Amino acid sequence: MWPRRDKFPPGPYGGLKGWSFRALNQSPLEMFSELARYGDVVGIRVVNFRNIFVNHPDLIEEILIDHPRRYVKGRVLRANRHVFGEGLLTSEGDFWLRQRRLVQPAFHRAQIAAYAETMVRYAQRMLEGWRSGEERDVHQEMMQLTLEIVVKTLFGADVTRDAQDVGKSLALLLELGANFRRTLFIPHWMPTPTNLRIKREIAFIESILYRIISERRASWSDTGDLLSMLLHVQDEDGSRMTDKQLRDEAITLFLAGHETTASSLSWTWWLLARNPTVEAKLHAELDEILGGRAPALEDLARLPYTGNVVTESLRLYPPAWGLARVAVENHEIAGYPVKKGMGVAMAQWVVHRDTRWFDAPEEFRPERWEGDFLKRIPRFAYFPFGGGPRQCIGNSFALMETTLILATVAQKYRLRLVPDHPVVPLASITLRPRYGVRVVLELRQVSAPKNLSPAIRPPTQALTAD
Ligand code: HEM
Repeated sequence: MWPRRDKFPPGPYGGLKGWSFRALNQSPLEMFSELARYGDVVGIRVVNFRNIFVNHPDLIEEILIDHPRRYVKGRVLRANRHVFGEGLLTSEGDFWLRQRRLVQPAFHRAQIAAYAETMVRYAQRMLEGWRSGEERDVHQEMMQLTLEIVVKTLFGADVTRDAQDVGKSLALLLELGANFRRTLFIPHWMPTPTNLRIKREIAFIESILYRIISERRASWSDTGDLLSMLLHVQDEDGSRMTDKQLRDEAITLFLAGHETTASSLSWTWWLLARNPTVEAKLHAELDEILGGRAPALEDLARLPYTGNVVTESLRLYPPAWGLARVAVENHEIAGYPVKKGMGVAMAQWVVHRDTRWFDAPEEFRPERWEGDFLKRIPRFAYFPFGGGPRQCIGNSFALMETTLILATVAQKYRLRLVPDHPVVPLASITLRPRYGVRVVLELRQVSAPKNLSPAIRPPTQALTAD
């Protein structure tokens, strides 16, 4: 299918004087969108690192599904190991596999079903503090809410008191960790002001984590959550996880599992406010199916339009906007040699906007997901959660959480954008609104159910049992 070639693929180095760190640091979304114009496989050289940017779903599948062992995580994530330690996101090989098997049960379908009630209860608790006519930054609200939920469901702890400070520290670590120049060329042990700041933020989060771990160790209670599972699990030789290992998994799950979901919700509120027809259809479905009561897990299958709103929002604003790998073995992509040590990049932001797979890709159209659309596009034309063995472990958790929060909040409030507040994407490790999303809260009247018998269809993004 792909023509045979044996050279480094063509790209905008040389002719365009190379892509500087400035482009990568300041406008990576534009940079990758621009690169895609050169073809499905593009060569980029960043200083002395050679990278291949891959932009076709079949090639992405080849890397993530067919040959995952030929690659390790990309340079930026690996350079952040002092933050994530040997947690799931950054560890590799047998150690990663062992940890993935230990953590996986906490994300099984039956287990995450038990989290639904907490997700809705915490969302309702947030709404108790909201008043109609008030102005708020809904991104901050979502950040606090999703942090409280991930800590409560997986670690059985309530961080309401510390949520704002922990949230700020985590956001800062993600932002600083995504600065390509700093991360790749300034060793984390060097006592620069930024590195010292990072150290302080890590120490603060660790102090909270170690408190949660030591309280649970002291009580030795098995509350059935992830922390209990990890504390009680024993290796074949009888050894248990150390506090450091627990810390690494916890900080990874805090970071991976809270900002992503919060950003997805923030983008959804923004998209809804700008698309009143979609918003009205969403409200109609929620009012008809729920009629003002709180949503529960069983309702998800009866809210197909709500599910499609989440799916479409993840297409246009994927919180994980790109993936990176480094080859540990020689490989060949579409006939181009990928030598050991070379980088490979893939960008959901670009593939999700490709007119080959999506009509009018810039439009927010949840309807496009109706019927069997997902089956008609290549598997990796839509991959907000990655794929293959390193696929997001929190995939079902995140879909359930975003849909339940969306249903809980949208039943009660319509969020109106504050005019002139800039909502612009910041592509750091995740894709979030740089200046937040400022909204005015408007209390809704739930319209009376129309007594229609709704066509009950499963949501497009069915919750998968891992
Ligand atoms: C909308 C929300 C989310 C999105 C878009 C998202 C996206 C992703 C993606 C694309 C990856 C793969 C990265 C790669 O291959 O390099 C990933 C990995 C991961 N995610 Fe998520 N994620 C979300 C929510 C969550 C949640 C809620 C959790 C946990 C509570 C979580 C925990 C993780 C972990 C631990 C990994 C590493 C898995 C491994 O390598 O074994 N994520 N996520």
